[in-house]
Amino acid sequence: MTVHFIGAGPGAPDLLTLRGRDLIAASPVCLYAGSLIPIAVLDHCPPGARIVNTAPMELDEIMAEIAVAHAAGQDVARLHSGDLSVWSAMGEQLRRLRAVDIPFTVTPGVPAFAAAAAALEAELTLPALAQSLVLTRTPGRASTMPPAESLTNFAVTGATLAIHLSIHNLVQVVADLTPAYGADCPVAVVWRASWPDQRIVRATLETIEQALAGSMERTALILVGRVLAAQDFAESSLYAPGYDRRFRPQDVTSRFAGASE
Ligand SMILES: C[S@@+](CC[C@H](N)C(=O)[O-])C[C@H]1O[C@@H](n2cnc3c(N)ncnc32)[C@H](O)[C@@H]1O
Repeated sequence: MTVHFIGAGPGAPDLLTLRGRDLIAASPVCLYAGSLIPIAVLDHCPPGARIVNTAPMELDEIMAEIAVAHAAGQDVARLHSGDLSVWSAMGEQLRRLRAVDIPFTVTPGVPAFAAAAAALEAELTLPALAQSLVLTRTPGRASTMPPAESLTNFAVTGATLAIHLSIHNLVQVVADLTPAYGADCPVAVVWRASWPDQRIVRATLETIEQALAGSMERTALILVGRVLAAQDFAESSLYAPGYDRRFRPQDVTSRFAGASE
């Protein structure tokens, strides 16, 4: 018996890895974080599977479900939205499973920021404009932030920001970022990226509050950065004609000549 932690993606049932889909289909028990995972993803479960929404449950109750499956020798598909490496609460579950010697696997998923960028048809790192992407959030009712991880600190870098779990804090987000990014800095808010009712609002730090007018809550990602509206950025060296590289040596004197074979 194994507990398979699976990144269930941003919402669309076909934005799962093939491995994730196959593990769900082979597991007689499915525990899913129902606050963010749409029912359509559960279509991958086998007929007759025990399907449990863990959104209203406490950690002890979730562990009790796993213990029952373990005793019955039944594999469990444990689904969290997006990828498991950020804000999934997987860490505390793995710690419990290690303590009781229940085996597990971890299968990555498509994170919300990637689905939002795809919806925006945007590359979030562009030459010279931004070469870093910060995945962050603002403090919530249940989560404080380490003091150095403030938006004002991240803003100093000018990196592209993907701000999660913060649509209710939009006023503060704008106030924190405007001094460093400028009021004209592009902002995009993507609500339910990849869901059938996905919505996108594009604005600037100055206009985003008015553009949204409180119309979005919960499952929304705030993206901030010059890359979101840039058209006159430089091309990368990767495909530049004269750029000598391992996979495209310029001539026989290149230090890469013969290296790609
Ligand atoms: C608890 S975090 C989960 C993040 C997830 N593990 C990931 O890899 O993206 C939930 C936050 O992720 C963002 N989010 C998750 N799914 C989203 C989606 N389909 N569209 C937009 N934002 C989403 C929202 O900011 C939401 O408040």
